[in-house]
Amino acid sequence: MAALARARNIADLRLMAKARMPRMVFDYIDGGAEDEIALRRNVQRLEAHILNWSALRDIAQIDTTRTIMGAPSALPFLISPTAASRLFHHHGESGVARAAAGAGMIYACSTIGSTTVEDIAKATPGPKWFQVYVFKDRGLVREGLARAKAAGFTALALTVDVPVAGNRERDPKNRFTIPPKVSAHTALDALSHPAWLFSLVTTPPIRPANFDTVPTDHPGGIMGFIDSQFDRTVTWKDAAWLVEQWDGPVAIKGVSNAADARACIDVGARGVWVSNHGGRQLARAAATIDTLPEVVDAVAGRASVIFDGGVRRGSDILTALALGAEGVAIGRSYLYGLGAGGEAGVARAIEILSTELRRDMALMGVTKIADLTPAHVRRPANPSS
Ligand code: FNR
Ligand code: LAC
Repeated sequence: MAALARARNIADLRLMAKARMPRMVFDYIDGGAEDEIALRRNVQRLEAHILNWSALRDIAQIDTTRTIMGAPSALPFLISPTAASRLFHHHGESGVARAAAGAGMIYACSTIGSTTVEDIAKATPGPKWFQVYVFKDRGLVREGLARAKAAGFTALALTVDVPVAGNRERDPKNRFTIPPKVSAHTALDALSHPAWLFSLVTTPPIRPANFDTVPTDHPGGIMGFIDSQFDRTVTWKDAAWLVEQWDGPVAIKGVSNAADARACIDVGARGVWVSNHGGRQLARAAATIDTLPEVVDAVAGRASVIFDGGVRRGSDILTALALGAEGVAIGRSYLYGLGAGGEAGVARAIEILSTELRRDMALMGVTKIADLTPAHVRRPANPSS
């Protein structure tokens, strides 16, 4: 699509997504908890980090390859698990996974993905991870894991920053539910985006496709669903149980301090994933880039550190890698691409970020990801320490 090619950066894709989707759907992607402090902070604190270059290096050959939690990838970033992709574009999870595989990168599917793991596997042989939320019904969890394993998903991410739903105020204001319900309040919003509406009504209903029996009809939309179905009693014991159940690498996603990072190692996690859920959960959370160094120190090479939160530019990815992340996950950056133009939009988002990354590596005099060190970054005074 010519329009996608004209998108110069992720901010352009965001505006295109905003134009193509109903407001309630765009806001579900774009918004955060309460006054959206953690959401903004993730971005602003990344921007406050200064990159330092080395002059007169031979940068003719740039190598962006990276092995992330044992999985080789052409790029040092991956697709973060996010809910209900078919809500944003009918290409859904399969289109996102194909775009990721096309770029040689890892795709992670959410527990509340709207496409079955079998269909995603059919769409692409690329590397795939599965994200876990623990439902009250553990039988459902076991079933989901067995399906993901059989479909060729190699690693798990247990998300631990959603013990309850975050207070996302845009969603109830917009009367947003999954699947969206057309009511007097939402009809105009939906009808003024006919292409989006047409694909919604001509494709199967949006629901957690890998959990056939989990009930979805809750008042209060996605937050109601989370609060009625997610198990509030989950502790580190359950994390250890999950690591045992899954014969393969498990990352724990939603870590923001040294004590929790050490607990991940104690339960046998292979990955420690620094995240505050993109500022969608605890509204006053620290920016993830400020907590990354403390987690990297605590892990001390005993596990892979994955980073997410606020990544909108290649320079954000470089900053996190230089501060010790093995891989960087992107959420909204690819979702804006998906909303703007389906699979081709995700491919464009990945292309934008990888082009920025390669250019910045050249500008910094760095030819391999492994050559990035904390010396390449000047950290601003850390208000979180
Ligand atoms: C998410 N995220 C998320 N995480 C997860 O573990 N399971 C999920 O189902 C979802 N769902 C979800 C939906 C939407 C619309 C967004 C924006 C995010 C969190 C996601 O994996 C990641 O941690 C953040 O998106 C990272 O922040 P940025 O890149 O969006 O700033
Ligand atoms: C979200 C959840 C469902 O961030 O993970 O919307």
